[in-house]
Amino acid sequence: MDDTTARFRADRHPSESYEDILERDTRAIPDHLRQGPTRDLGDEGIPASDYYDRDHFAKEVRHVWLKVWQWACREEDIPNPNDVFVYENVGKNILVVRQEDGGIKAFYNSCLHRGRKLADGPGNKVDLRCKYHGLAWHCSGAFKHNPIGWDFPQFQRMDMSLPEVRVETWGGFVFVNFDPAAKPLMDTLQPLADHFDRYDFANRYKAAHTSKVVPCNWKVMAEAFMESHHTIVTHPQLAPFLGDVNSQYDALSDHVTRQFTATGVVSPMLADRRFGDMDILKAMAAAGGSHVAGGRSSRKDGEVAKRPVRARESVGTPDALEEGVTARMHTCEVTRAALGAEDGWDYAQVSDAEIIDALLYNVFPHMSFWAGYAPNVVYRWRPNGLDPETSIMDVIILKRVPKNGPRPQPVKEHRLALDEDWSSSPMLGALGPVFEQDMDNLPQVQEGLRASGTGLVHFALYSEMRIRLLHVLIARMIAQGEARAGA
Ligand code: FES
Ligand SMILES: [Fe+2]
Repeated sequence: MDDTTARFRADRHPSESYEDILERDTRAIPDHLRQGPTRDLGDEGIPASDYYDRDHFAKEVRHVWLKVWQWACREEDIPNPNDVFVYENVGKNILVVRQEDGGIKAFYNSCLHRGRKLADGPGNKVDLRCKYHGLAWHCSGAFKHNPIGWDFPQFQRMDMSLPEVRVETWGGFVFVNFDPAAKPLMDTLQPLADHFDRYDFANRYKAAHTSKVVPCNWKVMAEAFMESHHTIVTHPQLAPFLGDVNSQYDALSDHVTRQFTATGVVSPMLADRRFGDMDILKAMAAAGGSHVAGGRSSRKDGEVAKRPVRARESVGTPDALEEGVTARMHTCEVTRAALGAEDGWDYAQVSDAEIIDALLYNVFPHMSFWAGYAPNVVYRWRPNGLDPETSIMDVIILKRVPKNGPRPQPVKEHRLALDEDWSSSPMLGALGPVFEQDMDNLPQVQEGLRASGTGLVHFALYSEMRIRLLHVLIARMIAQGEARAGA
């Protein structure tokens, strides 16, 4: 344990730590779940205007968003040659295209003639043909045809191939980067990629995908999912079975941070309420299952969900627990059996932590991947085009491809309208109402930031260290970018 971690530990809530809970795990714990490094990033206030100021936002776009790796889609979204997926962010629109040789390329979705978008939407394409005057490109990006080629002598002198955007893949995700000089994706993803080796995300499929435009800055939204201590106020129904204020927060690298929150244990904030194990199980059942890790799908292969994906719907509530069996142990056993029955894999030796805990890894600046063997939640937060005060959140749930196959078809994105509730999503089940509680705060935060009397926001030293690191890195990238521009 480094000095900072040791010091922060002494400062933490006096209840048991997440590491203490790990010690009681009924199975072997992989090393990567052990406590990682922490950083003391100070306690200075951050300008509230960073969440709404247009100049600041323009700098974020220029020096952060156009420089970072961001997942655009899953490989399973473009399984066949000439399959095209359209990805948008900060005013950029690109086509992610599966090639004949199985590789993937990404092109700016902009005609080299007068700029019309080449594809209005996804699908399998014969070619990339502009609907304005008919110039066309092969799906490889090579120029194919100009109906009035005789009138464009300049095109004879130009490279008419479609300009490409950097592409790399990991875990079944297709990542893009607008910066041709960007370091390789692994430079950003490690050590997450090593830790997730055993979860084999490439052999998971998209069982749910819900998204929505929300009226707040993208950081306001991201930060709502980067600490657990809002549970007792924002999600009081979860507190009887969630170790919120004793969560663990680690900064594994500049780009990869994580938080571990135990499930099936009472929040230390309710320590005076004498919750027993049966009370924990009843609270969990009343909340529709644990809110962590998605849960089991009611969807048959290739069929759109008719009934919600409920998190841990099979947990149920027994009349009593056997001597020595805790609510956490019971929930883990039931979940192991339910997962195995659903996908045919053997979960007998999988740790309690990897079966039911919220093991959220964040990748700078806007992605979060839940580790573990239960269905994995993945978040993505990004600005809504070039508007600093609205943003888009994507929630996907990855499930393991059944041991004996076949690979189920991935669901399509379900975009909620502004007035639609997250709990109305047919795919999210018990997660929906929890997200709705989170989202209720966000427009209020955005308006409150504009109303600030001090012009500052403050972050907790330990439990909001990851949020502060996000701001530190953004500030660093902006400073370096501005210095380069001024040089
Ligand atoms: S703008 Fe595309 S062919 Fe003219
Ligand atoms: Fe929340």
